[in-house]
Amino acid sequence: MKKTFGQADPMIGDYVRSLLQVEDDILTSVRRESLAAGLPEIQLSELDGRHLEILARMIGARKTVEIGTLGGYSGLFLLRGMGPEGHLFTFEISASNAQVAHRNFKLAGVDHQVSQYVGPALENLNQITSEGPFDLVFIDADKGGYPQYLEWAERNLRPGGLVIGDNTFAFGRITENLKAEEESAPSVLALRKFNSHLAQSPHFCTTIFPTGEGLTVGVKIS
Ligand code: DHB
Ligand code: MG
Repeated sequence: MKKTFGQADPMIGDYVRSLLQVEDDILTSVRRESLAAGLPEIQLSELDGRHLEILARMIGARKTVEIGTLGGYSGLFLLRGMGPEGHLFTFEISASNAQVAHRNFKLAGVDHQVSQYVGPALENLNQITSEGPFDLVFIDADKGGYPQYLEWAERNLRPGGLVIGDNTFAFGRITENLKAEEESAPSVLALRKFNSHLAQSPHFCTTIFPTGEGLTVGVKIS
């Protein structure tokens, strides 16, 4: 029998949400501030945020890189998972988004644990290479850039470190046009490339957690 992968029943999500009660007053305020500032509501759900927190905790992460800061919501989970000794290096292409995130990190009382970089991540990542190797790289930015962000992560993660990508089901499109790749959007092709590169790399043990969005997680093993 082929068991199902993930849970489509929304009642299951409701159950876990009310069970875990992840979103506290700080997270609610951050969400509200981001919305009021006009940011798109594309941040992680609080349950996916908890996944990030748990993963950071499990590996004792102290140095995490995030590509795609948005309003800082996901960064707060990464910081919670790292605890007071942790540091978040977070990259955002939009100066106005980064400003909102800066206010939110202050509001949450963690701004002293965060270094923010504004502009194209591929240009700015080089600025932190000397601070590595890193424990965790979380990628949640322009989907077309995922393969290149992964290349940087491969070079700059410690053994045992994690690379995590959000939205790796390509909003339901990851399986489309399997026979006619050229007909898929560049972002879908890039996400497929990201997943298959990690899946085939001898340097990573990889899975995809079947969240609503798809959360690819690779552990660097060599
Ligand atoms: C979009 C981007 C994301 O990273 C996400 O989690 C959801 C939506 C978007 O660009 O629409
Ligand atoms: Mg995302």
